[in-house]
Amino acid sequence: MASQLFTPLKIGPVEVPNRIAISPMCMYSADDGSASDFHIQHLSRFGMSGAGLAVMEATAVTREGRISPGCLGLYSQANEDALARVIAIAKKFALPGFKLGIQLCHAGRKASTPYPWDRGAALTPEKGAWQTVAPSPIAFEKDGAAPLELTNAQIEDIINGFGEAAKRAVRAGLDVIEIHAAHGYLIHQFLSPVSNQRTDDWGGSPEKRMRFAVAVAKAVRDSAPSHIALGARINSTDFLDEGLQVEDAIAVAKALRDHGFDYVCVSSGNIVPGGRPALGPGFNVERAARIKRETGLVTRTVGFIAGPKHAEDVVSTGGVDQVALARAFLDDSNWGWHAAEALGHPFTIPPQYQRVKAGSWPGAKETRAFT
Ligand SMILES: Cc1cc2nc3c(=O)[nH]c(=O)nc-3n(C[C@H](O)[C@H](O)[C@H](O)COP(=O)(O)O)c2cc1C
Repeated sequence: MASQLFTPLKIGPVEVPNRIAISPMCMYSADDGSASDFHIQHLSRFGMSGAGLAVMEATAVTREGRISPGCLGLYSQANEDALARVIAIAKKFALPGFKLGIQLCHAGRKASTPYPWDRGAALTPEKGAWQTVAPSPIAFEKDGAAPLELTNAQIEDIINGFGEAAKRAVRAGLDVIEIHAAHGYLIHQFLSPVSNQRTDDWGGSPEKRMRFAVAVAKAVRDSAPSHIALGARINSTDFLDEGLQVEDAIAVAKALRDHGFDYVCVSSGNIVPGGRPALGPGFNVERAARIKRETGLVTRTVGFIAGPKHAEDVVSTGGVDQVALARAFLDDSNWGWHAAEALGHPFTIPPQYQRVKAGSWPGAKETRAFT
């Protein structure tokens, strides 16, 4: 039977050649927000990987919106120029039809964290720590430093920051812009009653908590021309009784759709530390399928989808349009080639690598049989 995973997909104005997306992954390798040579090899590998789309890591729309000092940003001309250089090279070597997106983010109360390989060593002011901001002055970690409550003017500045970063993303050559409204970052901090306890027009009822997400969506929509696909990563659940539930996610998705967004990428958890139970393969698929059914939006999902047959099942019978894989592509940057091989789908790999195409190298089975 023909593979559904390898059929093209229209995401608003953008067509991707298959339903495999590489999920955004922070690489902590930027310099004051500017992409580095690290990103050249990283994204170039992804362009050749067989995925139809890669969404670049959480990219801060303001300097203090970075998760860590090494996070990518799009808040300066230097950031834009560095990104444009990386994208031009990655696209030059990419397989036909490959599209590149970016995830625009503000980390809010989850900003100013150390590099993950320095965990345990707190980020001190000497090492570049900064004051965080959030909808309400509630620390993310129980004993962590409290963020400052955002003023109206600061909220407007951040919304503008999303719009300006979207313009930079378009000029830098990206095809898809995704806002990060999940995993406990600022947009999600406004959405979730766990982190938003404001009593003004930015908090309280579900509609008021959604106001920031909608304002960001409008700013991005107004900044991006019609050939750019727009989407959002959203949480389908906070895994907390007092947090967001799938019905809230459906309301958010509908609001984004009604403001011209083309897709959602459905994830979950992380509004509080350790805010995820033990999770099995494809742990967001069912909620993602429900969001798709109730909104009609192009829907991607993510979360422990690692094997080609599982990915194939999610898009052929799971009720979801596209899968995003993160760790699988870090582990095997040719995952797309190997998935095509496993599913018996004809696939053209770059000519320089033809000596390892399916069936032509007897060692192929051994290199993939470690486990
Ligand atoms: C190294 C690393 C960095 C990540 N950075 C981001 C990020 O920038 N934005 C985001 O939405 N998710 C991020 N994630 C989460 C992944 O995109 C994905 O949702 C999660 O790893 C589950 O997918 P997987 O089971 O395919 O790895 C990151 C994950 C990893 C492993």
